[in-house]
Amino acid sequence: MRLLFVCTGNICRSPMAEALAGAHPGVEADSAGVAATAGSAISEGARRALAGAGLAVPEHASQEPSVERMVWADWVLAMTRGQKLELIRRYPWAKDWVRTLGEWAGSGEDVEDPIGSSDRVYQATMTHISKLIDSGLATQQVGPRYQAVAGADHAGYQMKDRLLAQLPTPVLDVGTHDATSVDYPNFAEVVAALVGQGRAQVGLLVCGTGIGMSIAANKLPGVRAAVVFDVSSAHLARAHNNANVICFGERLIGPVVAEDALREFLHTEFEGGRHARRIAEIGALEGHKWP
Ligand code: RB5
Repeated sequence: MRLLFVCTGNICRSPMAEALAGAHPGVEADSAGVAATAGSAISEGARRALAGAGLAVPEHASQEPSVERMVWADWVLAMTRGQKLELIRRYPWAKDWVRTLGEWAGSGEDVEDPIGSSDRVYQATMTHISKLIDSGLATQQVGPRYQAVAGADHAGYQMKDRLLAQLPTPVLDVGTHDATSVDYPNFAEVVAALVGQGRAQVGLLVCGTGIGMSIAANKLPGVRAAVVFDVSSAHLARAHNNANVICFGERLIGPVVAEDALREFLHTEFEGGRHARRIAEIGALEGHKWP
């Protein structure tokens, strides 16, 4: 299970939680702060508390949360309700897997900030965090997974909203939800990251043409995004290219054509055989480095 712990500065509570959780078998842990200054070391009080408990103090450089880290984590665990609300404000699409550590552990209370306090307070904070992690790990399963994830910009949200009902459930709609101008790469990134990491089986992206969305989505590892114009291109995108993200241009094709194409895409299997070799060759291009 992957856990991202979040506090304010990412120098006390969340790095302690990262070290404590990381010591559990099968847990990968990271941490961040909603107001972190990049590159700060763990605080001395936190370092001493961890060392006193026999825990190796990790090399630490404070960091802010990011789309990558939010998608990487099965659970994003904030120390306080305020930090949780700030995470959901920044990353509303992640709300299903953002909790306070207390909520996740089943007890509900916040973990207060020990910054500037005595070693005794740091130790008490560490013990508190440790108990919450133990309780959470005893009860919680791997984080939410989706059959489908959908995203669009202002030029595609109406088609995206119309197509949502056709997608297999559970489906995650990452926005946008209205005609306010937004940048399509931000939505392509979230959808592609969820599909590329295997957290969603299939992605749907809609912009004015489908082209910008597909170019952006195809930058992420494991993603094969195809712009589709009709039932035939939808069929071949699955049968030959094993596409896992379908892109439409709301300004270029009608809603009924898109519905038919999406239905075909969702019901067509990859043919494998010679196409599997070619898909592997596409995968190899992901590691491309300029000489
Ligand atoms: C937005 O005006 C438009 O450029 C975008 O929706 C898309 O068509 C990009 O490929």
